Amino acid sequence: MPETVLVTGGAGFIGSHTCVELLAHGYEVVVVDNHVNSSPRALDRITKTAGRPLAGAYRVDVRDRRALSEVFTAHPVDAVIHFAAHKAVGESVALPVEYYDTNVGGTCALLAVMHDHDVHRLVFSSSCSVYGEAPTVPLTERSPVAPTNPYAHTKLACERILRDVCDHLPDMKVLALRYFNPVGAHPSGLLGEDPRGVPNNLMPYVAQVAVGRRERLDVFGDDYPTPDGTGVRDYIHVMDVAEGHRVAVAHLDDQAGLRVFNLGTGTGTSVLQLVAAFGEASGRPVPYRIVERRPGDVAELVADAGAVAVAWDWRTTRDLTAMCRDAWRFQELNPDGYAGRPPRAGGPTTGGTPCG
Ligand code: UD1
Repeated sequence: MPETVLVTGGAGFIGSHTCVELLAHGYEVVVVDNHVNSSPRALDRITKTAGRPLAGAYRVDVRDRRALSEVFTAHPVDAVIHFAAHKAVGESVALPVEYYDTNVGGTCALLAVMHDHDVHRLVFSSSCSVYGEAPTVPLTERSPVAPTNPYAHTKLACERILRDVCDHLPDMKVLALRYFNPVGAHPSGLLGEDPRGVPNNLMPYVAQVAVGRRERLDVFGDDYPTPDGTGVRDYIHVMDVAEGHRVAVAHLDDQAGLRVFNLGTGTGTSVLQLVAAFGEASGRPVPYRIVERRPGDVAELVADAGAVAVAWDWRTTRDLTAMCRDAWRFQELNPDGYAGRPPRAGGPTTGGTPCG
């Protein structure tokens, strides 16, 4: 019997790529998503990309315990990957209650329903933002945590809750993955990042400049203590993030309790290096100007990726060129994101339970 994995937030950027990766490796996949920040059309793209249907897809808010419980009753869930959350740092400052309610409340509701249905295996979507302003890089899982905004606080609060639950329930097996900066897209160009409104993050903004949707990029500061003065981040290809989740599911039974891992490449890239790489990958120069620093930004965040390498004998394999090339392919084929026409006709169509 193949394992069934329930993916909350499965229509989102990282969730959708993870679903494809799981389907490609023989898992049965059930998606739960309330689509407040994702398109139901991503579900069609998942099946088309994977060439296999989802076992089910439900428009459900994870805080709705009764509806979530019905999904667990309908499917033999073996493990859960919990992506569903709000993730915009700036917005979290303006809407802290909403962030705690969705991110922390949603996690508590999920844990209660998992408990009711005797499901003990969970991969949790955490964030490198829990480290805050890092005094030294690279960051290991033992580096001090010091969240600087409500979003990061909600992720750390969830990790704390997971630790307490694992201490209380010895059957629980939980992996919390702290991602660095996921970018890129599925190499088919069918799946990618489709932010609503003006993108907050660098890569989707650069892609929209290259395709002509925006005039130029504002580079937030060139006076950081970094080689070219612009901010340095650890960009990780979303397919590596997806693969990391699939490998994590396979390693859930290694040990009971909560384990925390970074998901990064260990390589730092500056804003200007990314702009140059994107220009090369797309064949289109990316016009930019230097502006003031963005409040709350830090100079450098880079992972020490050694712990997962040791624990799972697994490493990321896709470099900055692949990240830019794949992000560009998605942007070029889907200039209006999922709202536009799909890039290719034909192929298998959606199966599973209709979303609704
Ligand atoms: C942010 C979040 C992080 C989240 C990640 C992906 C913070 C502290 N962290 O990371 O929790 O996981 O987004 O959702 O906010 N930049 C520009 N011009 C732009 C946009 C960005 O110069 O228009 C620069 C930034 O100053 C930064 C780099 O590009 O140096 C990356 O920014 P961004 O993509 O927004 O990610 P982070 O801020 O690192």
